[in-house]
Parts: sequence; structure tokens; C-alpha cells
Amino acid sequence: MCGIVGYIGKNQAAPILLEGLSKLEYRGYDSAGIAIFDNNKIEVAKAKGRLAVLSEKTNDGKSVTGTMGIGHTRWATHGEPSDVNSHPHLSMSGRFAVVHNGIIENYISLKKMLIEKGFEFISETDTEVIAHLFEYYYTGDILDAMVKVINRVEGSYALGVLCSDYPDSFIAVRKSSPLIVGLGDGENFIASDVTAILKHTRNIYRLEDNEIAVLNHDCVTVYNNDKEEVKKEMFTVDWDVSAAEKGGYEHFMMKEIEEQPKAIRDTISPRIKDGRIVLDDISLTAEDIKNINKIYIVACGSAYHVGVVGKYVIEKLCRIPVEVQVASEFRYCDPIINKNDLVIVISQSGETADTLAALKEAKNHGARILSIVNVVGSAIANASDDVIYTWAGPEIAVATTKAYSTQLTVIYLIAAYMAEKLGMFTTGEYSQFVNDLQSLPEKVSEILKSKEEVQYLASKFFNCHSIFFIGRNLDYAVSLEGSLKLKEISYIHSEAYAAGELKHGTISLIEDGTLVIALATGQELFDKTVSNVKEVKARGAVVMGVTTDSHDNMEDVADYVIKIPNINEILLPSLSVVPLQLFGYYVASLKGCDIDKPRNLAKSVTVE
Ligand code: F6R
Repeated sequence: MCGIVGYIGKNQAAPILLEGLSKLEYRGYDSAGIAIFDNNKIEVAKAKGRLAVLSEKTNDGKSVTGTMGIGHTRWATHGEPSDVNSHPHLSMSGRFAVVHNGIIENYISLKKMLIEKGFEFISETDTEVIAHLFEYYYTGDILDAMVKVINRVEGSYALGVLCSDYPDSFIAVRKSSPLIVGLGDGENFIASDVTAILKHTRNIYRLEDNEIAVLNHDCVTVYNNDKEEVKKEMFTVDWDVSAAEKGGYEHFMMKEIEEQPKAIRDTISPRIKDGRIVLDDISLTAEDIKNINKIYIVACGSAYHVGVVGKYVIEKLCRIPVEVQVASEFRYCDPIINKNDLVIVISQSGETADTLAALKEAKNHGARILSIVNVVGSAIANASDDVIYTWAGPEIAVATTKAYSTQLTVIYLIAAYMAEKLGMFTTGEYSQFVNDLQSLPEKVSEILKSKEEVQYLASKFFNCHSIFFIGRNLDYAVSLEGSLKLKEISYIHSEAYAAGELKHGTISLIEDGTLVIALATGQELFDKTVSNVKEVKARGAVVMGVTTDSHDNMEDVADYVIKIPNINEILLPSLSVVPLQLFGYYVASLKGCDIDKPRNLAKSVTVE
């Protein structure tokens, strides 16, 4: 996720672009850059680090002259944060400058093709192929080149493109990444979201996938990819600045919950080619996988909860023993590990001090490190033998949602990848699993469509003093996350228990009216969990069951039931966690809590 702004008008462009980018820093902040057209050539200024570094370098934009330009604030995906990897990227002759938000999934084959045609690459980004493709296809008509480029690239993109042959216009397009056009008075804009341009205009065009906008200072023309003009309806934004930053949501947490289908899709789809999981990112060979003796999963908090799901998933699919440990314990437990063990380290920020220390401890014992990280170029990513990035984009809310979901997705990719190499799947099972994995975004969207049902349940229970979550196996693993989500943002005491363990002590805490959220999604253990539900009901508990569409007898025992779609049972955690995130959110909202910044918590825990 990155931020894009573009401007054409009568005023100096650079200060306007920098001001706009400052409103988009929540979308990415590891480097920034601008390209300005002036005196028949394109001038680029870019810098690694926060936008402030670029602002200082350009005297708040005042030192770069010109009245048309594009700007970008980056959240690294391909290539670590650096001056050279930051946008805009230039084509070889310098005729085109490109800013991009999204992921070009076929950039490796395009890069190979362009290198064979004599193009030279200077960055590690997927975006640079777009700049060179423009040059490759350009025969004097920018619209024509744009159509050819978008017909060639696969993946998601929002693009702003300057061409030095066009002193009075620039061009933009989007597919599966946001981009709006702002319509001003004698000036026009593009932006990843309205916050960047609200100071100048509230009138916008929303671009549909593959609609191309050509911007002049006094008009904007939109075309489809057959180069036919499209009549757009103007939309007037009535959000205030703070709501606009959150895409109209009240909190980043809800925005991020809603972004999960896209984040999961972005994480999965570049790694599935022709029905097979392809992990180009890692160097683990089939031989290496066969030689793994044991797998450790090490992480903190929600990332640790992903590990708990991971244990069940990897053991079930690969039959390799897995031990999950919280990083702060692992680092001091003198672990018995060696070079035949694989240590999977999970971290959104890639900077968590305990997780990094645990990684180093494992490395000292000679173990191989595979990390699952969201922030490219972070300390954990740099210290690992292999990294698989989650393409969740920046997560602003302290309570993780989309990072958790994408970490889980990567666990599924790794487990199925290894199981296939170990010969654990029949061909039919493997393709079915891959298909099911690809259906996750759609099923998560389906759950999100009925979020009001969860909101209603939250309205009944937001005054509780204590809430228990129970489940078995995978349902237990998800209970841990549901309980953490609830307590960290709503400050309601909550505990997650393996459903069969309650009667060994905790059941004494159940009294009249205590809410127990019981997850019973899997077929095999459904009846066992139902028995545990009956035990707590008998002690006065009110039970909210979470189960799949195919279990219609949950209603017989639970007071309230939340249903999730059916899918391969191993993948159910990706679905069952969603209503629990929503429940935590709505309870906290009804209690008036500071949802995005819960008390005493920080987003990145860089101290021990
Ligand atoms: C809870 C949460 C934390 C993090 C934990 C690890 O919602 O976000 O529990 O999961 O602090 O952080 P990372 O993943 O950055 O290592």
C-alpha cells in the first residue's frame, strides 16, 4: 500500500504534492518522491525515510519549479526502502516518470523480456518494468501506450505517469488499487484517497478498473481500455479530513478489518501460478524440506496465535512435529534446536525486540530461519535466511487484524507447499486445497456483509465484566485471538480455554449470565464442544456459538449463533476469526474506548 498524488494547474506543483503526500503517510512512509515537469524535461527528487526528509531536501518543494507533477509515499514491497527503490521511476531515456501503488505479479517475466530488448534496470522494484514498458510501447501517443501497458501487466495498480512529450497533461489509471481524480478550478488532481486533495477540492471522479484519466489543467477526460471516452459522474465528498483518512470509517481498525479480503488476495494470488503454490521468495528446496527434523514457530501476541493455528495446520498436512513458543520465553529457555530444525518467525512489524532476540538465539544454534513479515527491510526480515512477506500494507490500528489474517494465509501457503513437496497430497486434494485457499477473500467478504448481526450481539454484551472463549484444536487457536482482540481494545477481562480443559478449574468462574463464546466449526470435534457448551449452560452461562453453515444444531444449545461459510476445515480459522474481530471492535466502540490506540499499548514493541 502506497500513496499517490498528482497535480496539474497554474501553481507550483511540488509544494502541493508534498502537502498532499503528508496526508497519505499512513499508507506508507519508508521513502517518498516527486517528479515535476519543467522546461520540457522531468525532474525527480526522492529520498529514503519519512516525507520530512524529502521536504527538507526540496525546501518544502519550493526549490523544484514546474506546475505539473506526480508524487509518491512508499510502503516497500519489492526491494527494501532506499533512494533508488523509491518512486517515481524513470524510463531509460527519462521520457516517462511513473508512480505506482499495487503489485505487478508478472514483473519477473516482463523484466526478463525488457532486459532481452536492451532495457537496463536500476532498482529492485516491480514498478520499474512499467516505466520501461511505456518506452517500449510508445509511438507518439501516450493513451495508446497506456492501453498497451495495462494489457500486458497482471496484478494491481494505480498509476500516475508523466511524459516529457506532453507539457500540458499527464495520465493515470487504476485496477484493484484505489485512485480518484479531483476536479478543481483551473487545476486537477489524482490521489490514492481524498484526504490528499480535500484542501483544494471536494469534487471527484471515482475511476473504475482500467479506466484511464487524461488530466489537463482545465479538463479531465476519462477513457476505457478501448480508448473510447467514458462519461463520468462527479461525486462531492462531504467527509471531514479525519474521516477521509480512514476511508470514511470511524476507526482504522474497522477499515483494516474491511481490507482483509484484499490483503488476503494480495498475499495469495502472486504465489499461485497455474494452480500451484510457487514460493519464489524462499530458497527451501524439496530436499531441505525432507530433511527438516522439527519446526519451531516463535512470535509474540497475535502473531503467536497465528503460530498456534500453524502448529495444527503444519502437523496435519506435513506430519512434521511443530512446537510453538512465545518469543520472550523461547529466547531464555535454552532451546534444544540444531541445523535440521526450521524456525518460523512471525512478525507484522519485523521489529519486535523479543522476536528478534529469539530469532538470534535460534540462529546461534544453527537453525534455519524462515520469517513471515509485513515490513520489507525490517530487522527480522534482514536477519532471516528466507522471508515471505505478507502484503497487508501498513497497519495503523494497534490491534492487528489484516496482518493476523495475512500471516495465517502465509502459514497455509507454506504448509501446503511443504506437504506437496513431501508427497502428502493426492493431485485432487492439492488442487482442491489451492482452490479453497483462493476462495478465502470472497468468503471473508461474505462474513463482512453481515457485520450488523455481530454489532447487535455486541450491543447485548458490552456491559459484561468477563467473557470466556472456548474451542478445541483450531477453534481453540482462534479463541486465543478472539479473546485477545476483545480484551486489548474493550478492557473487558477475557480468557480463552481449550474447551475440554474448563472443568479442570476455570468452570468455577462461570456464574449466572457469564458470556461464553464457543467456537465449534470443525466436524470431528463438534459434538465434543457441544458437550462443553452444555456444561457451562448448566452453570448459568449465556452462550454465543460460532459455527459453520452446515451445523444447524448449534441453535439447540446456544443462546445466539453466528454462522460462517463452509470451507476446507483447515482453512476455517481465516473465517472464524472475522466475527470475533468484529465483536471486539463493536464492544469497544459501544464502551467508547479509544479503539485505534488502546491504553498502555504500542504498535511496535521494540523493548524487551
Ligand atoms: C495484538 C497485537 C500484538 C502483536 C505483537 C507482535 O493485536 O497486534 O499482540 O501481534 O505485539 O507484534 P509483531 O507482529 O509486530 O511482531
